[in-house]
Amino acid sequence: MTASFHRLPPIQIGAICIDPPLLLAPMAGITDLPFRTICRRYGVGMTVTEMIASRAVEQKRPRTENMAVVGEDESPVAVQIAGSDPDYLSQAARWAVAHGADMVDINMGCPVKKICKQVAGSALLKDEPKVAELLRAVVAAVEVPVTLKVRTGWDQTSKNVAQIARIAEESGVQMLTVHGRTRAQMFQGDANWEDIGLAVDAVTIPVIGNGDVVDGASARELVRVSGCAGVMVGRAVQGNPWLMGEVAAALRGESCPPPPSNEERWAVVEEHMQRLATHHGEFRASQLVRKHVVWYSKGMLHSAQFRGHFQRLRSWQEQRDTARDYFLSNGQVLAHVA
Ligand SMILES: Cc1cc2nc3c(=O)[nH]c(=O)nc-3n(C[C@H](O)[C@H](O)[C@H](O)COP(=O)(O)O)c2cc1C
Repeated sequence: MTASFHRLPPIQIGAICIDPPLLLAPMAGITDLPFRTICRRYGVGMTVTEMIASRAVEQKRPRTENMAVVGEDESPVAVQIAGSDPDYLSQAARWAVAHGADMVDINMGCPVKKICKQVAGSALLKDEPKVAELLRAVVAAVEVPVTLKVRTGWDQTSKNVAQIARIAEESGVQMLTVHGRTRAQMFQGDANWEDIGLAVDAVTIPVIGNGDVVDGASARELVRVSGCAGVMVGRAVQGNPWLMGEVAAALRGESCPPPPSNEERWAVVEEHMQRLATHHGEFRASQLVRKHVVWYSKGMLHSAQFRGHFQRLRSWQEQRDTARDYFLSNGQVLAHVA
């Protein structure tokens, strides 16, 4: 399916409007509340929490509770759950709604071995009756819209994304996101956007296309090739929340906003660090900033030296001061070690 468009229209699901139809991909260990809050500002139309295992919900661990915290003005937002037992999954869905989820998203795309062994995540794609059973149970359990995120199938020989899409629609799912890779591909090779189109053609519910969007042009190409109603972006936004401004503008048919100045970049890095410390506590935040801050430095002067140096820092104060000197000098501070 190919579709030409000037401005991709908002997606309406009941009373919920996703405008622009641009979603931040759920990424475990990355898209927590601090990062979602920052990305949202640049034009994301909907956010999704990291995946939460339905069994973990029952154990009531503080870390699980923390993962389901949504921002005061973070709406629309989905809490993503995973599992293979209809009762646990329904219970987790009700818990998600109690935590403020506008929608409940079910993960049937996770390729991680530990999850697949429990026949959850993408392993479920091999068992279509089970998919229907789980989706129906969750749809019946909550009043809010239920959405689903999948891959295109288990492997090259068993791609069943069109059939899964039909099952989802018949079960009452109101929006489907397709990552254009099979489980066997993990993150290798290119995402197949034509395969996303197979789901688009099979159903009337909105289908969100996902996989390998890296800029405004690739977002528009994904829509053109697949005919998807919206776009989800993941890895390319790590350390680059401004990318969401570029993709949002492209989907509206507008020109790309200018890149951030050094001062703007540092202001966002500093805010991100502060939000991580508030949300997770300084100890955990100090571990998390090692990847985030290094991602923000990608493409800047002497970023390899900065990465090596920053990873060795232990105290929060040192991390903060080192990052500030690096970003505000646009990397020049490391000129002497280069
Ligand atoms: C580190 C990491 C963690 C992820 N965690 C989740 C997750 O919790 N739930 C989910 O549905 N997908 C998860 N994904 C998959 C992404 O949501 C997305 O489908 C995938 O990265 C492809 O999109 P991209 O090419 O824009 O990154 C994760 C991906 C990465 C790289």
